[in-house]
Amino acid sequence: MAASLRSIVQASRSPFARAGIASARFSSTVPKQSTLKDRLAELIPAEIEHVKQIRAQHGKKSFGPVLVDQLYGHVSPSSRLSSMRGLPALIWDGSVLDAEEGIRFRGKSIPECQELLPKAPGGSEPLPEGLFWLLVTGEIPTQEQVTGLSRDWAARAAIPEFVEEILDRCPPTLHPMSQFSLAVTALNHDSAFAKAYQDGISKKDYWGPTFEDAMDLIAKLPNIAGRIYRNVFGDGKLPAIDLHKDYSHNLATLFGFGENEAFVELLRLYITIHSDHEGGNVSAHTGKLVGSALSDPFLAFGASLNGLAGPLHGLANQEVLVWLRKMQEKIGENASDVAVKEYVWSTLKGGQVVPGYGHAVLRKTDPRYVAQREFALKHLPHDPLFRLVGQVYNIVPNILLEAGKAKNPWPNVDAHSGVLLTHYGLTQMQFYTVLFGVSRAFGVAAQLIWDRALGAPLERPKSYSSAAIEKIFRDHE
Ligand SMILES: CC(C)(COP(=O)(O)OP(=O)(O)OC[C@H]1O[C@@H](n2cnc3c(N)ncnc32)[C@H](O)[C@@H]1OP(=O)(O)O)[C@@H](O)C(=O)NCCC(=O)NCCS
Repeated sequence: MAASLRSIVQASRSPFARAGIASARFSSTVPKQSTLKDRLAELIPAEIEHVKQIRAQHGKKSFGPVLVDQLYGHVSPSSRLSSMRGLPALIWDGSVLDAEEGIRFRGKSIPECQELLPKAPGGSEPLPEGLFWLLVTGEIPTQEQVTGLSRDWAARAAIPEFVEEILDRCPPTLHPMSQFSLAVTALNHDSAFAKAYQDGISKKDYWGPTFEDAMDLIAKLPNIAGRIYRNVFGDGKLPAIDLHKDYSHNLATLFGFGENEAFVELLRLYITIHSDHEGGNVSAHTGKLVGSALSDPFLAFGASLNGLAGPLHGLANQEVLVWLRKMQEKIGENASDVAVKEYVWSTLKGGQVVPGYGHAVLRKTDPRYVAQREFALKHLPHDPLFRLVGQVYNIVPNILLEAGKAKNPWPNVDAHSGVLLTHYGLTQMQFYTVLFGVSRAFGVAAQLIWDRALGAPLERPKSYSSAAIEKIFRDHE
């Protein structure tokens, strides 16, 4: 089973290539003039046919057994009940996560994306605009197409006045993620999909207004995130979006860091690597699940954000910094390895997790951690907090192995992101998950567009009672 699943993962790396559509490995093959929506309209009929072929050929084949253990999740004495662990239950071509090598976006690893996706003039990190194009189409866009997306998003960036008022009325003590989710949910007021549905749109046309909502969603997030940041942490006045700047530059400007080119580059990398992590993680899956009820992309992504706000998921990037700062308070800066080890053990003995370590799928160091470490080595090699993150990396995996519970002792994306943001002065750790949320919109939006294009049905897994499990196997034994 494991071997066959692995081969399926390998085979799925270039879905569009299999469908007879160029996957553009080294250069853009997209017709120069086409917009993202035009290109998508060309791709959808072929992909509908492709899915039909797969289902005709394989639709009635079993995809492997489901064990009762998988329904319950953990089976240790202190077990939490966590259903659907590892169940093959979803289709999403945008990104695939391999336990050993980490994420690939439409078949491309993070280093390949860094090499192949268009950059800003003078920059060396990929523009998230290009990553979105890649997620949606499987193709590498041209520089002009990426610039077109930057312009389109900048033109759509304004948020309704009432959403600004909602944010301005939030007490600064309300967690930024709760504010973020409130504002995104409220954007559904102007949803093109919700309106089209009320007007009786045909199923086959669902993807069009979903695409418009997805574009509006991504475009409006900087103004929401910027407003939350300024309201909670400082000056409420937001600068205007610049129609001639890229998405990350505008986002950085709204936080007050637009002049710092290294920070802007960091945001480009940050959004790219946080955008998507296949379909089953809590935020991506929540968006898909809620979207399957034909809730519009704002409602669906608002729900994603609520999942991302959990400490075992996106909030871990805040928790890592909180944990590192507490460590520094307790054992001082420049602490010895022995003192760090003791601190890690005291965390575990206190019944807490070491934030930023472990993963539900990965079994190696997360390549998103590696990409951020390489950025730090290039831009901030002597930062004391970066040195501490490196020291922790040398110590924690052995301790987690010795403790013997975590299946993956290696760091994930969240172990590194906070130290980079802190270095440039974005020190408010309660805000870090909002940045993760801005990024995750790219993956969730792409997935929602394709779910509507391919007619994904209402999600409705079957739940069983424990009594039913006992009865089924009693009757069969
Ligand atoms: C990510 C995470 C939620 C994955 O959970 P999971 O799939 O249930 O992980 P495992 O199957 O390896 O968990 C087995 C046990 O090891 C523990 N474990 C896993 N990672 C751990 C960590 N970093 N520190 C301490 N214990 C950990 C789990 O809590 C679980 O304990 P339990 O049996 O008492 O419930 C988990 O590794 C974790 O809590 N990490 C810290 C939070 C974090 O960084 N989240 C961001 C993920 S991108």
